[in-house]
Amino acid sequence: MGKKILVTGGSGYIGSHTVIELQKSGFDTIIIDNLSNSIPEIVDQIARITGKKPLFEKFDMTARPALEEFFKRHADIAGVIHFAACKAVGESVADPLKYYHNNLVSLIYLLECMRSQKNQPKLVFSSSCTVYGQPDQLPVTEKAPVKQAMSPYGNTKQISEEIIDDSARQTGIASISLRYFNPIGAHESALIGELPIGVPNNLVPFITQTAIGKREQLTVFGNDYNTPDGTCIRDYIHVCDLARAHVVALQRLLEEKNETPHEVFNLGTGTGYSVLEAIQSFEKTTGVKLNWAFSGRRPGDVEKVWADTTLANLTLGWKAEKGLDEMMATAWAWEKNMAAGILNNLNKNK
Ligand code: UD1
Repeated sequence: MGKKILVTGGSGYIGSHTVIELQKSGFDTIIIDNLSNSIPEIVDQIARITGKKPLFEKFDMTARPALEEFFKRHADIAGVIHFAACKAVGESVADPLKYYHNNLVSLIYLLECMRSQKNQPKLVFSSSCTVYGQPDQLPVTEKAPVKQAMSPYGNTKQISEEIIDDSARQTGIASISLRYFNPIGAHESALIGELPIGVPNNLVPFITQTAIGKREQLTVFGNDYNTPDGTCIRDYIHVCDLARAHVVALQRLLEEKNETPHEVFNLGTGTGYSVLEAIQSFEKTTGVKLNWAFSGRRPGDVEKVWADTTLANLTLGWKAEKGLDEMMATAWAWEKNMAAGILNNLNKNK
């Protein structure tokens, strides 16, 4: 038996890919998810890929008694990777209290439960480069100042990191926050991937849905930014590279190699691509011509951001391996599988 790792939000996009990497590294996994933004069939898909079905419990972590009871039943959890959170920037502006309640209350309850365990588990937290806002210097290092958040969602990530920082020092729960740049792509099997509910907010699901014919046209938000082609620049990272980094971070904590109670790492490739470059990569790798048009800027968008990944490279011994074309190819394979009815078939097979 491997060490038992709790993955909150483990049936979601990044969570499900991380469960696979954990299993590949010999860990036993257990998922808590309220299925607010995922479907239970993803757990079966994980089993199809790895040959091992993770344990799964459906409940909302803001329900404190359920979480306490869970930790009583699982006194042997060695580590927690905490993904469970709401993540839509626009929705967080429309309903800030939902975001503060869900994202912060669940984290506080989780830390309180972890604190009361006899053998305190380690914590890896899902954070975001959104904490940097528009950085003054690029590439952005972990030492760059945390800027005023552009949205309640972004603020929950900043506050969460502060809560973890204070609690790690006081409770001794060793923690690592991972600041993701822009995770995209899907597992190479094309059996799991991103599952946006409704109209996607993010670029790549919008690209693949347009290409498959679910959306008529992709809107490129802004062509007058101070960048070579006028469109925004982001550091896109393959979700499987990102998932692997969680396992490495967890192992660092389990081996007690962390130098401070709460460490922070950027997770990106270190290379920025514009929206137009992302579209070109998609068209080149898939051979599908995309229908797109410019519109005005999207409020709240940062002009350009990409990571300095030196700290993660040297300290974690981790490096992103997959390039933009592979990210696009895997995202497209997953979209085509969904269009071919993979999810309906899953439901029928149950
Ligand atoms: C946003 C959040 C980030 C969050 C991530 C995942 C901010 C500043 N960023 O990243 O914290 O972790 O979502 O939920 O809060 N674009 C288009 N057309 C579209 C969609 C996007 O042109 O239909 C452009 C955007 O203007 C941007 C780029 O594509 O330049 C990437 O956008 P998106 O995928 O939404 O990610 P971010 O906004 O970078």
